[in-house]
Amino acid sequence: MKRRFPRYLLVPLIIALISIPAGFFYVNWNKSGDGAGLYSRDWQPEAIFAYWNPKDFYRSVDTVVGEFTGKQCVECHQAVTPGVVNDWSKSRHATPANGQPAVFCSDCHGSNHQDLHLPTPDVCGNCHDKQHREFVAEKRYGFPSHSLAMERALDAKHFADKPKAEVTACLQCHSVASKCDSCHTRHLFSAAEARRPEACITCHSGPPHPDDETYFNSKHGQLYLAEGQNWDWSKALVKGNYPAPTCAYCHMDAGKHQVAGKSIWKFGIKQVNPLTSGNEVRRKQWINLCADCHEKDWSAARLKEMDAERKAAWNKLYKAEGILKSLRSDNLLFPSANQRPPYAMDSKDSVFQYEHIGFFEGQASAFYNVSAIERDYFEMWYFNNLTAYKGSAHGDISFVNKGHEAMDRSLETIEKKADRLRYIGDIEKNPEKRKDKKSNDENLWLKGEYTQFNRENN
Ligand code: HEC
Ligand code: HEC
Ligand code: HEC
Ligand code: HEC
Ligand code: HEC
Ligand code: HEC
Ligand code: HEC
Ligand code: HEC
Repeated sequence: MKRRFPRYLLVPLIIALISIPAGFFYVNWNKSGDGAGLYSRDWQPEAIFAYWNPKDFYRSVDTVVGEFTGKQCVECHQAVTPGVVNDWSKSRHATPANGQPAVFCSDCHGSNHQDLHLPTPDVCGNCHDKQHREFVAEKRYGFPSHSLAMERALDAKHFADKPKAEVTACLQCHSVASKCDSCHTRHLFSAAEARRPEACITCHSGPPHPDDETYFNSKHGQLYLAEGQNWDWSKALVKGNYPAPTCAYCHMDAGKHQVAGKSIWKFGIKQVNPLTSGNEVRRKQWINLCADCHEKDWSAARLKEMDAERKAAWNKLYKAEGILKSLRSDNLLFPSANQRPPYAMDSKDSVFQYEHIGFFEGQASAFYNVSAIERDYFEMWYFNNLTAYKGSAHGDISFVNKGHEAMDRSLETIEKKADRLRYIGDIEKNPEKRKDKKSNDENLWLKGEYTQFNRENN
C-alpha cells in the first residue's frame, strides 16, 4: 500500500517552513539598526554609550598616530590623563607580586593608538580566567544577573520608547555586564574596594531596588559604619575574616563572581514558591552562609520571616490586582486602553489593545500611558512592595513597615477610586440613580469631580 503524506499536516508544515525563517529574519532585521538589541532600529546611540557598551559602540580615536610600548603610553599619558596614570601606578597591575611582569596600558587597550579598544570582560579574562569564566557562566541562572544586565536593558521596551533623557542612565548601571570596572574601579582595580558596600550602591539604590538604604539601616550595615574603618579589607570574603557581612560577603561569598546563584525572590516583582526543591537548595546555601556567624536554626527562622512577609505583601497585591481586573471586565477603567494611544513599542497593542494588569500581562506597559488607578497599582507593586521586600531581605524593620504602610494606603486608595468608577459607571447607564440632581451627564464628565480628580492624579 502506498503511504501518502497526510494532507492535514501539509498546511501547518508549509506555515512552519515559512514562518520560522521569517521570524529569524525579522529578529535579525530588528537587531541590525544603529542602536543595539531587539529595538536597535528605533533609537540612536549617545556618544557615552561607546564607554558603557564598548562591544557594540566603541570606535578608536585616530588623533594620535603610532604604535607604542607600555612605557611610552605611561609617559605621554602622565601629561594627558595624570589621574589615570596615578591610579594605575598604585595598582597591583603596575607592581604585581612574585616578580610577574607589569600590566601596562597596552595590555588592556592595545598598542596601536588608531586601533585602541576599551577592554570588555574577555580582555581581562585573558589573565583572570577564573573570574571571567564564573562571570560569564552566571548566564545560566537567567534574569536578573550581572552578565545579562546589558541585554536586559537594551531589550526593555521602555528603553526604546521613552524620551532619551530619561533612559540614558539605564546603560550606565546595566554596563555591569559589558566591562569589569563596576566594583573595582579603573585604574586601581582593587579587590579591597570591591569588598566594601560602597562598590555596589552606585547601582543598587533607589526605590525599585533599595539595597543601599536597607543594608545601611540593618544591624550589619550599622556595624560596618561603626567599625568598618578598622577591618582589614585585604582579606578574602570567607568565614572568620570579617565580623559583619557586606554586600559582596553575602552575594559573592568566597569571591565567586556570580550574584544570581542563590537568588530565590530575585527582583521581587513576581511571587515565587520558596519551597520548590531548587529553592530549598538555595535556602540551604543562604543558611550555611549566615552560619559563618549565627546559629543555623536562628538563621533559618530569620529567612522564613522574609517568606512570611512576602506572602503578606502578595495577598495585598493580589487584592488590588483583582479589583483592577474586575473593573476591566466591566469596562470601567477610564481612560480605557482603547481611549488612549497604543503603547508605542507594542505591536500586539496596536492591533488588540487592552489594559495590562500585573506581571504576567506585560510589565513595561504599566509604567505610563495608563489610567490613574492603574498607575496607583503600579506604584504599589513596583515601589511599595519592593521597599518592603528589600527591608525584610536585609533585616531592616523600618523599611518593612514603611513598605506595608504604603501598600495599605495604596490599596485603600484603589478601593476608593474603584467605588467611584463603579458609581459613575452606574449612573452613566441609569441616569435616574444620580445622587447629585443638579448636574447632568455632560457636566459630570467635563467638569465633574471625577474628571478633576483624574487630572490631579494622572
Ligand atoms: C587592567 C586593564 C587596564 C589597564 C592596565 C589600563 N586600563 Fe585604561 N581602561 C580600562 C577599563 C576597563 C576602562 C573603562 C572602559 C570603558 O569605559 O568601557 C578604561 C578606560 C580608559 C580611558 C577612558 C576612560 C576615562 O576614564 O577617561 C583612558 C583614557 C584610559 N583607560 C587610559 C589608560 C592608560 C593611559 C593606561 C596606562 C597608564 C591604562 N588606561 C591602563 C582598563 C585598563
Ligand atoms: C604621544 C602621546 C600619547 C601616547 C604615547 C599615547 N597616548 Fe593615548 N592618548 C593621547 C591623547 C592626546 C589622547 C586623547 C585623544 C583624543 O581625545 O582624540 C589619548 C587617548 C587615549 C585613550 C582614550 C580613548 C578614548 O576613546 O577615550 C586611551 C584608552 C589611550 N589613549 C590609551 C593609550 C595607550 C594604550 C597607549 C600606548 C599604547 C597610549 N595611549 C599612548 C596621547 C598619547
Ligand atoms: C596581562 C594580564 C592582565 C590583564 C589583561 C588584566 N590583569 Fe588584572 N592582574 C594581573 C596581574 C599580574 C595581577 C597581580 C596579581 C598578583 O599580584 O598576584 C592582577 C591583579 C588584579 C586584581 C587584584 C588586585 C588586588 O587588589 O588584589 C584585580 C581586581 C584585577 N587584576 C582586575 C582586572 C580587570 C578588571 C582587568 C580587565 C579590565 C584585568 N585585571 C586585566 C594581570 C592582568
Ligand atoms: C554598575 C552597576 C552595578 C554595580 C556596581 C553592581 N551591580 Fe548588581 N546588578 C546591577 C544590575 C543592572 C542588575 C540587574 C541585572 C538584570 O537586569 O538582569 C544587578 C543585579 C544584581 C543582583 C540580582 C541577582 C538576581 O539573581 O536576582 C544581585 C544580588 C547583585 N546585583 C548584587 C551586587 C553586589 C553584591 C554588588 C557589589 C559587590 C553589585 N551587585 C554591584 C548593577 C550593578
Ligand atoms: C541606578 C542604577 C540603575 C538604573 C539607572 C537602571 N537600572 Fe535596571 N536595574 C538595576 C538593578 C540594581 C536591578 C536589579 C535589582 C534587583 O535584582 O533587586 C535592575 C533591574 C532591572 C530589570 C529587571 C531585571 C529582571 O530580569 O527582572 C530591568 C528590565 C531593568 N532593570 C531595566 C532598566 C531600564 C530599561 C532602565 C532605564 C529606564 C534601568 N533599568 C535603569 C539598576 C539600574
Ligand atoms: C559585582 C562586583 C564585581 C564585578 C562586576 C567584578 N568583580 Fe572582581 N571582585 C569583586 C570582589 C567582591 C572581589 C573580592 C573577592 C574576595 O574577597 O575573594 C573581587 C576580586 C577580583 C580579583 C582578585 C581575586 C583574588 O583572589 O585576589 C580579580 C582578579 C577580579 N576580581 C577580576 C574581575 C574580572 C576579570 C571581572 C569581570 C569579568 C570582575 N572582577 C568583575 C567584585 C566584582
Ligand atoms: C547578611 C547578608 C546580606 C547582606 C549583607 C546583603 N544582602 Fe542582599 N540579600 C540577602 C538576602 C538573604 C536576600 C534575599 C535572597 C532571596 O531569597 O532571594 C537578598 C536580596 C538581594 C537582592 C535581590 C536579588 C536576590 O538575590 O534575591 C539584591 C539585588 C541584593 N540583595 C543586593 C544587596 C546589596 C547591594 C547589598 C549591600 C548594600 C546587600 N544585598 C547586602 C542577604 C544580604
Ligand atoms: C560575617 C558575620 C555575619 C554573617 C555572615 C551574618 N551576620 Fe547577621 N549579624 C552579625 C553580627 C555581628 C550581628 C550583630 C550582633 C548580634 O546582634 O548578634 C548580626 C545581627 C543580625 C541581625 C539583627 C540582630 C538580631 O538579633 O535580630 C539579623 C536579623 C541578622 N544578623 C541576620 C542575618 C542573616 C539572615 C544572615 C544570613 C543571610 C546573617 N545575618 C549573616 C554577623 C553576621
